[in-house]
Amino acid sequence: MLKVLITGKNGQLGSTFQELATSVADIEFIFKDSKELDITDFKQVEGVLSTDKPNIIVNCAAYTAVDRAEEEPEQADLVNHIGVKNLAMMCKNRNIGLIHISTDYVFDGEKGSPYEVADPTNPINVYGKTKLAGELAMQAINPNGCIIRTSWVYSKYGSNFVKTMLRLSKEKDEINVVADQYGSPTYATDLANACISLMKNVENWKDGTEIYHYSNEGVISWYEFAKEIMVITKINCNVIAIESKKFKTLARRPKRTALNPHPQKILGNLVNWKESLVINLKEKDGLE
Ligand SMILES: NC(=O)c1ccc[n+]([C@@H]2O[C@H](COP(=O)([O-])OP(=O)(O)OC[C@H]3O[C@@H](n4cnc5c(N)ncnc54)[C@H](OP(=O)(O)O)[C@@H]3O)[C@@H](O)[C@H]2O)c1
Repeated sequence: MLKVLITGKNGQLGSTFQELATSVADIEFIFKDSKELDITDFKQVEGVLSTDKPNIIVNCAAYTAVDRAEEEPEQADLVNHIGVKNLAMMCKNRNIGLIHISTDYVFDGEKGSPYEVADPTNPINVYGKTKLAGELAMQAINPNGCIIRTSWVYSKYGSNFVKTMLRLSKEKDEINVVADQYGSPTYATDLANACISLMKNVENWKDGTEIYHYSNEGVISWYEFAKEIMVITKINCNVIAIESKKFKTLARRPKRTALNPHPQKILGNLVNWKESLVINLKEKDGLE
């Protein structure tokens, strides 16, 4: 039986894996939170891997606070770069497969069409720079496995755009949402299922580290995303389109970072963003 260790078990993706784990046959999952397995602590990582002996690690651990990262670049780098380097070294030495999750923010958003895996990276904020540093460290060490770049992740867990819109719609009659940043939402359940399909295919993995792009299908603005949330939930809240320059944030955001998720049959079928949003909004638990 395949043994898969999930880091960052209490984050959006980690929690989604916990939910799906019970219905996955032939895989034994081990879940670790940031105290049980701090990926920045090389000795602790070594100890956990010696005890648990997984065949595959899925790294769901990350420093994801995009604005706070501008003020805490060292902390963001420690988790998103050094932590990934630790895992990659350990996986390489012990022949463990590593599935690492990265981001569309490794790109500058200026391309004008969906990004391909081989497009040049050029992050414009600290979070993106630290995530790219993690990717490059993993590629340099080259363990068997992959880097999955994803975007605009939401779920019923943690903090995300969908939950924020639902909360704001209860507090206000109208919400301002930026309409000049485009990307593709990714429902964490779809991403976790893509990772599971990759795990089940472990026999066919190529040697070394591959990069994949995975998101839901469709490119939209945050404004369109918010509008659709109100349409599906039938919440009577006016969504007003604004320009990014009127919504100041600490970190700069790239304009258009949609990822081209084709052709990646290994990650399973792509799901349209609206279909997944409907499913998420029908889930009662966790949504305020
Ligand atoms: N959210 C998005 O919109 C988005 C977009 C593109 C890519 N991604 C990528 O997708 C992946 C999953 O994101 P997510 O939304 O599930 O993130 P999340 O909800 O912020 O969860 C991150 C998890 O990482 C844990 N963590 C932080 N530092 C750690 C450390 N040193 N050692 C071990 N665990 C640590 C956190 O635990 P504590 O709470 O205990 O600190 C938290 O449970 C990340 O790689 C992220 O960069 C996310």
